[in-house]
Amino acid sequence: MASSNELPVQTLSVTVHPTSPITTTISTVPLPECLAPGDVLIKVEAAASNPKDWLHLVATGTSLNSGDDLAGIVVAVGEGVTRFKPDDRVAAFHPMGKPYGAYAEYAIALEHTALHIPDSMSFEEASTIPLVSLTAGLTLFRRQGYLAPWQPGAQEKNQRKSLLVYAATTSLGTYAIKLAKLAGIGPIVAIGGGSSDYVKGFLETPQDAFLDYRTGLETLRENVKRLTEERHLHLRNGLDAVNEHESWVQVSQMLHGGGRLSVFSGARKYDEQAIPKDVDIVYTFVGTAHEAKYRPSMPKQPSVEDVQGDPAFAGEFFVWLEDMLRQGKYSGHPFEVISGGLNGVSEGLNRLRNGQAGGRKFVYQIGSKGRE
Ligand SMILES: NC(=O)c1ccc[n+]([C@@H]2O[C@H](COP(=O)([O-])OP(=O)(O)OC[C@H]3O[C@@H](n4cnc5c(N)ncnc54)[C@H](OP(=O)(O)O)[C@@H]3O)[C@@H](O)[C@H]2O)c1
Repeated sequence: MASSNELPVQTLSVTVHPTSPITTTISTVPLPECLAPGDVLIKVEAAASNPKDWLHLVATGTSLNSGDDLAGIVVAVGEGVTRFKPDDRVAAFHPMGKPYGAYAEYAIALEHTALHIPDSMSFEEASTIPLVSLTAGLTLFRRQGYLAPWQPGAQEKNQRKSLLVYAATTSLGTYAIKLAKLAGIGPIVAIGGGSSDYVKGFLETPQDAFLDYRTGLETLRENVKRLTEERHLHLRNGLDAVNEHESWVQVSQMLHGGGRLSVFSGARKYDEQAIPKDVDIVYTFVGTAHEAKYRPSMPKQPSVEDVQGDPAFAGEFFVWLEDMLRQGKYSGHPFEVISGGLNGVSEGLNRLRNGQAGGRKFVYQIGSKGRE
């Protein structure tokens, strides 16, 4: 094990409780004396929230440190870790449900789901990147069949393979569009609501289109149909990044025959009669980057073989993403800092639960800035 100094023996850690409203408690938790192979111990400078940080706890009635997106400074690395060393600036996707999560002074992540961040990038911005970027990457390049941008011929082969992104103003929809652009995928038909200014900036070719979902889903479906006919688009690939009010049913009807629609809420079944028979619905579970499998209760799973390679893909994806960050070709999502450091987590999660994200992520300053 390589470490900068004496290893910290304990950390302040937030436990999130599935109450209404969401509440948290902060306690001191001992850190392991020795890191496991592949582990990276990180002094957390910023953490970001995701909807599942409260959703899963409410669904299962459990309490835990549910934060999984973080950025900070490497303190020590376990055996076999070669990409990171103490004092490196990093962001990481902590394994969901495991100890030493992001809402803490120190967290433990795994080498293959961590990435270096440039000196010019703030920890706050960096903390918005790992979990949702990887969800979007797994979706496009493992489930939807597009070539990953680092694969030979990706730009040519992904061209003229259009993509429909419903709920493009979610961080998931926006990251999917940023990745699609870097992989040469297009044209992109993006559908969003009131927070669309940021995502519109990535729809830079005249072939791309933006539509507003607030016209109502049925009108929207007609508008997409008209657009695809006028532009001779064959929309076979789609993402429904929100899965609300049976949105996936209408979105599945916007795709052409033989299409594939990615969905993200594990709480739905996606078996409505109105879904066209020739549209394949596939659920993305970002946890496969660590677990290499779906959980038995999850809907619309891909084949076991398709999932086994996800941890290796995640490793390649983060190495590539770190290069994109270095070159200034990729960036974080708009964010709002919730004051109070670890004490602010309950406020952020309640605002997420109340649908107040409005095109940005909620971030907490946990390191030195949080104490200012
Ligand atoms: N399965 C997985 O592994 C996985 C991983 C990551 C995320 N997810 C899921 O993916 C979903 C998106 O996550 P996120 O973190 O990207 O969300 P988010 O950024 O917090 O989403 C907030 C945005 O959702 C948009 N929105 C709300 N209701 C909408 C509707 N009915 N139709 C279209 N857009 C709507 C709003 O946009 P406007 O302001 O423009 O209206 C709002 O800005 C969540 O359900 C999350 O749990 C799943």
